[in-house]
Amino acid sequence: MKILVLNGPNINLLGLREPDIYGKADFQALLSLLRETGASLGIQVEQFQSNHEGALVDAIQQAYGVYDGIVINPAAYTHTSVAILDALKAVQIPAVEVHISRVSAREPFRQLSYAGMYCEKTIQGQGIDGYRQAMEYLVQKYG
Ligand code: DQA
Repeated sequence: MKILVLNGPNINLLGLREPDIYGKADFQALLSLLRETGASLGIQVEQFQSNHEGALVDAIQQAYGVYDGIVINPAAYTHTSVAILDALKAVQIPAVEVHISRVSAREPFRQLSYAGMYCEKTIQGQGIDGYRQAMEYLVQKYG
């Protein structure tokens, strides 16, 4: 099984960025967690992070026929990007949405998730462990 992990803007600044909200684990720790989780689940995992909406759309389009599952944290684009939603709907790859923070307890503008309208599950408020949980879910269901 091949899983693509997509991260949107500012996720590369984990650790530095509002640690009271997003935790102290940095982006390298997230990459290590993805590698270790992939190895323990016996699957292939690739990660792509971008601060640009179109690059994330391109990555979703290019995933067609290549990946069996997508784990996506669109970050701020969660709340604005119809383009990311449409790309997910176009390729029809099973997807899980992850948010490091508990978005449901935050500002009103964070309560709408476009990507979440496609994703079959949302994991939030679990820190970077949410990515591991999302990968486990996809492997249990589709692996
Ligand atoms: C986030 C939540 C978003 O509202 C925010 O814009 C982010 C990160 C999270 O992982 O908790 O950048 O997706």
